[in-house]
Amino acid sequence: MEADIDHVLITEEQLGAKVRELGARLTEDYDGKVPILIGALNGATLFMSDLVRACRILLSIDFIAVSSYGSGTRSSGVVRILKDLDRNIEGRHVLIVEDIVDTGLTLSYLIESLSARQPASIKICALLDKAERRVANVPLDYTGFQIPDEFVVGYGLDYDDLYRNLPYIGVLKPELYRG
Ligand code: IMP
Ligand code: MG
Repeated sequence: MEADIDHVLITEEQLGAKVRELGARLTEDYDGKVPILIGALNGATLFMSDLVRACRILLSIDFIAVSSYGSGTRSSGVVRILKDLDRNIEGRHVLIVEDIVDTGLTLSYLIESLSARQPASIKICALLDKAERRVANVPLDYTGFQIPDEFVVGYGLDYDDLYRNLPYIGVLKPELYRG
């Protein structure tokens, strides 16, 4: 697996420090609000599981799955809910937890769909921000790292559903991209 990585972009230590920092901010901002953190499956699972342990407040968690790229590396702009929330978010403080915001199309769809359910508030926490590729204007309230326009894997992010278990964020060797 690691022989497929061209270079490491964000190390395990850098990820750990950033997650602790975000957790401390959320602990302060959401104290007493009992937020519901909504992880976008499958990419956000690793970030989510570390992030909630860095939040020292009462909170709940839920997950939603929306269609993304299939096995390609570019957004299609066509978004569907594949697995909906288990909980009612009406009146709740919602924090969407995303692995990466690229074009922003997935997130803007998610915000629109969740806003219609009348939460008390809705904010976004994204580990990675590929700002130069943004198409939809989405407000990122909490961001981990700005990254260049390179396709990255690891710490939950996949290529063709592989490499999610890498403990760091890396860039794949270009010759590995199929199609
Ligand atoms: P967007 O709709 O273009 O913002 O795409 C968001 C989704 O595409 C993310 O939640 C990821 O699942 C996926 N994605 C975007 N860029 C990358 C990448 O560099 N590596 C892996 N997945 C990515
Ligand atoms: Mg995702």
